[in-house]
Amino acid sequence: MRPPSGRIGCALTLSIFASIGLTIVYALGGQTQLEGLLLFVALGGIAVALVGWAHNFLPKGPFEQSREERMAKPVAETEAEESFEAGADVVGRRYFLVRMLGLAVAALGAAAVFPVRSLGTRPGRSLSVTSWRTGRRLVTEDGRPIKAADVIEGTLLTVFPEGHTDAMDSQTILVRLPQQIVKPLPGREDWSPDGIIAFSKVCTHAGCPVGLYNEESHRLFCPCHQSVFDVLKAAKPIAGPANRALPQLPIRVDTGGYLVARSDFHEPIGPSFWSIDHA
Ligand code: FES
Repeated sequence: MRPPSGRIGCALTLSIFASIGLTIVYALGGQTQLEGLLLFVALGGIAVALVGWAHNFLPKGPFEQSREERMAKPVAETEAEESFEAGADVVGRRYFLVRMLGLAVAALGAAAVFPVRSLGTRPGRSLSVTSWRTGRRLVTEDGRPIKAADVIEGTLLTVFPEGHTDAMDSQTILVRLPQQIVKPLPGREDWSPDGIIAFSKVCTHAGCPVGLYNEESHRLFCPCHQSVFDVLKAAKPIAGPANRALPQLPIRVDTGGYLVARSDFHEPIGPSFWSIDHA
């Protein structure tokens, strides 16, 4: 039967090879089941080694000290020497096993660092900006510029920044209210010319397109989880899971009568989890 230190050494060696294998499998593109198996072996090897260590090398009780004669007899001296040599051997094996354990943990740690690459590149400011820019015209999905006169009360129009009709984070809805009931928030007095208001179409709950409008209640509806936004209150959510108003796009009418953006949105569009504004 293999001595305890041999079994512990085997377990640690297995763990080291499993960690190396885990790194190689990940670098080659990954395979979920194989990675799980290798991780199991890497962790299991260390666990088996630690349990074996505790069983075989740590002192076992009960401890008691027998009374001995003051002077050691020749026989006792011999036993002491043998015991010392055996102890030196144990210390040597322990030192080797400690290094093996350190190697196994380091290999597993190195294998665990590699998946950090899977997090991808940093999003940077891409979550805070869209394709809207000052002076960029509002166009339909097929690229047709929108005039203020084209926006009819009671209808919902989806628009994009000119030249960026494929930018889904920039899709915006236009509604026209009777001028007398528009109550802009402070600082937004010139954002809704002729009663035309533009809001991000990306729901602030989970990002679905807010595509339904009730002209009598002046409310916008998200079909995914039934969030309701009140257009008369700057698209504040009044029902459903969304907890943040749809960001408003500042717009104006240019000299040709076309609707253009005054700027980008002033806050991140879409789901609230990356926004610090939960008002
Ligand atoms: S995505 Fe709009 S309510 Fe959930």
